[in-house]
Amino acid sequence: MAQAKSKLAQKIEYENRNKLKHMEVLIRETAEKDFYQTEYLTREAFWNLYHPGCVEHMILHNLRKSKCCVRELDLVAVSDGKIVGHIISTRARIIDPADVVHDVLCVGPLSVLPELQKKGIGSELMIKSIETAKKLGYPGMILFGNPAYYHRVGFRNAQEFGITTKDGQNFDPFMALELNANALADVKGRFFEDEAFEVDTDQLPGFESLFPYKEKRVTETQFN
Ligand SMILES: CC(C)(COP(=O)(O)OP(=O)(O)OC[C@H]1O[C@@H](n2cnc3c(N)ncnc32)[C@H](O)[C@@H]1OP(=O)(O)O)[C@@H](O)C(=O)NCCC(=O)NCCS
Repeated sequence: MAQAKSKLAQKIEYENRNKLKHMEVLIRETAEKDFYQTEYLTREAFWNLYHPGCVEHMILHNLRKSKCCVRELDLVAVSDGKIVGHIISTRARIIDPADVVHDVLCVGPLSVLPELQKKGIGSELMIKSIETAKKLGYPGMILFGNPAYYHRVGFRNAQEFGITTKDGQNFDPFMALELNANALADVKGRFFEDEAFEVDTDQLPGFESLFPYKEKRVTETQFN
């Protein structure tokens, strides 16, 4: 397995060889003093991307207060002493047809500062998360995202593993990654992310007031 891990890291390193040429990027665990900065960064990355404004920074805040939080998987990318990217993976469950509960990880939000996107920082964060999750012994990681992006680091349609959403659905953006050979072979069923992902819209205005004003707009990216 160590071989597969380094192959993936080598592949990404190869693809990133020109992008990160002028940047030293360090990936480390997020410290409590970084919490606001990473919420700010998440807001910058998601603002007006999928909806006018965004909620991902509040989800991140709530995930950290939840029991699903795994400190080793709350990671920042730092360049020149500045936080430029962030990723979090949290404990989630797959409940199989016999009602047996299996622990897995749910990846996201993943964010890179808009002005530094497409330089390989997101991939570095993903690779470090995958390596850490393997060391922690989780069988797999699940996420909702852009297949073109996540297939590069090994994610596949969750349907291939017999995993559905909690409503029994499958669609291309719903993906899974097996962290060791056959680790998901007996982990089939419905996927439940932590309740902290449920957004209470009444909580949003108060939370937003902690950040500088930004204009909510309708953009083309919201229709993709
Ligand atoms: C998605 C995101 C984290 C990727 O980080 P990044 O540092 O920009 O990504 P990388 O440089 O590692 O990307 C590598 C490749 O993925 C592509 N890519 C980046 N973002 C992508 C996206 N949203 N969809 C599809 N492909 C994407 C890049 O074009 C690049 O391809 P290339 O090597 O052929 O040029 C970052 O763009 C971001 O913060 N986006 C806004 C928030 C978001 O959408 N988060 C993910 C939600 S699922």
